[in-house]
Amino acid sequence: MRSKIVAGNWKMNKTLEEATALTSEILKMVTDEVSSDAKVILCTPFPYLLPVKKQLDNQTRIATGAQNCSEHEAGAYTGEVSAPMLASMGIPYVILGHSERRQYFGEGGSLLAKKVDVVLKHGLTPIYCCGEPLDVRERNEHEALVKQQVEESLFHLDADTIKKIVIAYEPVWAIGTGKTASAQQAQDMHAVIRKHLADKYGQATADSISILYGGSVNAGNAKELFACADVDGGLVGGASLKAKEFVEIIKSIS
Ligand code: PGA
Repeated sequence: MRSKIVAGNWKMNKTLEEATALTSEILKMVTDEVSSDAKVILCTPFPYLLPVKKQLDNQTRIATGAQNCSEHEAGAYTGEVSAPMLASMGIPYVILGHSERRQYFGEGGSLLAKKVDVVLKHGLTPIYCCGEPLDVRERNEHEALVKQQVEESLFHLDADTIKKIVIAYEPVWAIGTGKTASAQQAQDMHAVIRKHLADKYGQATADSISILYGGSVNAGNAKELFACADVDGGLVGGASLKAKEFVEIIKSIS
């Protein structure tokens, strides 16, 4: 059985004090109000990972995640953070290939394949992002592009290893725009991704991989999106910065 997951992507937001306050609020509300056993992950900026992790110690409901890491394990790469560093801090998840990394930092398929490998080597779970820009959808090439993104960074893995990956489908036109994919659009693409995984690895393997939807998920649309057969939760940006709304989103998963 694949897991239900709601991950918050804080991006480059919050001071340390604000991050600490947000974590406390989320922790209290999740503990008091959330009955489902969905996994909750807070993907914070690097400097906040340890303080947030410390706040979350002694409980198992909420885990931490990074938003990126280097493809290198160590060395002269000023300003970078490596997978072994994250592993040594006990951080279990890392987002890879977010569309903002692809767009602003030029990350592409072969680089992301290396990042996936180094992250897996050090025992972390990658949350691998894929998704098409608006012009690609308008040309009706979105399925082909997303299949290619999944293929070029993940299909070198064997069946046992790919089961360790979480995939996040995030149409670029829906990220931070307030424009969500409809539940039908999300379900259609998630089904395409799962079929692509099934064609390569078999149905049982494809059925064991969590595929999250991301792009303007909020408390108002989460329930409908999460009700789709192939949507196993969400990767939430803006709405994860507000404790009450984020917890409402977590409650929308059944
Ligand atoms: P958004 O961001 O929820 O603010 O659209 C999602 C993401 O980029 O992961």
